[in-house]
Amino acid sequence: MPKIAIYAGSFDPITRGHEDVIKRASQFVDKLIVAVAPNLSKQSLFTLEERFDMIGEVLNGHEGIEVHRLDGLLVDFAAKMGANLLVRGLRAVSDFEYEFQMALMNRTLSPNLETIFMVPSVETTYISSSIIREVAKYGGDVKDVVHPYVASALRLKFAHNS
Ligand code: COA
Repeated sequence: MPKIAIYAGSFDPITRGHEDVIKRASQFVDKLIVAVAPNLSKQSLFTLEERFDMIGEVLNGHEGIEVHRLDGLLVDFAAKMGANLLVRGLRAVSDFEYEFQMALMNRTLSPNLETIFMVPSVETTYISSSIIREVAKYGGDVKDVVHPYVASALRLKFAHNS
């Protein structure tokens, strides 16, 4: 049976931290599905379509990695894709409570679906999509924390919005 894992998130936008987790996780599975979700509790800067396209550009047809849109429950999507593993990144203690809650809820909904946590690189530990959005909004340089394609998408977005 091929090992298929899912790395889901809102990726608004995808950061070097997400890329780091994707690269680490993809080494351990036959297929890693990056699933772009609408996040109902957050107002997103990029549309789902824009986030999906951006991730495709950033990962650039990397072997063993697929990008999908996630609509509905993650456990249902995992079942549909034949995945038995969920990957999450753990950056700091502050991530833990939310991650723990999600992992246990997902296990309640689908007992055979495991969640594994990966520790991203030290250099990306402090990054979050919202801090990047804020820096970019005020014209700050985000080239060290996102892929060049994302940096230019952020520039364009804020040029249009201003
Ligand atoms: N590097 C940089 N940033 C990271 C990161 C990393 N390695 N890991 C997480 N983050 C940041 C994200 O940028 C995001 O930052 P922001 O809040 O500033 O935008 C934050 O951590 C959390 O984002 P993410 O890990 O993408 O999670 P999310 O909260 O956006 O997404 C889903 C959560 C999509 C996985 C979850 O809502 C889900 O499963 N939805 C489907 C519906 C469902 O099944 N719900 C029930 C779940 S129990």
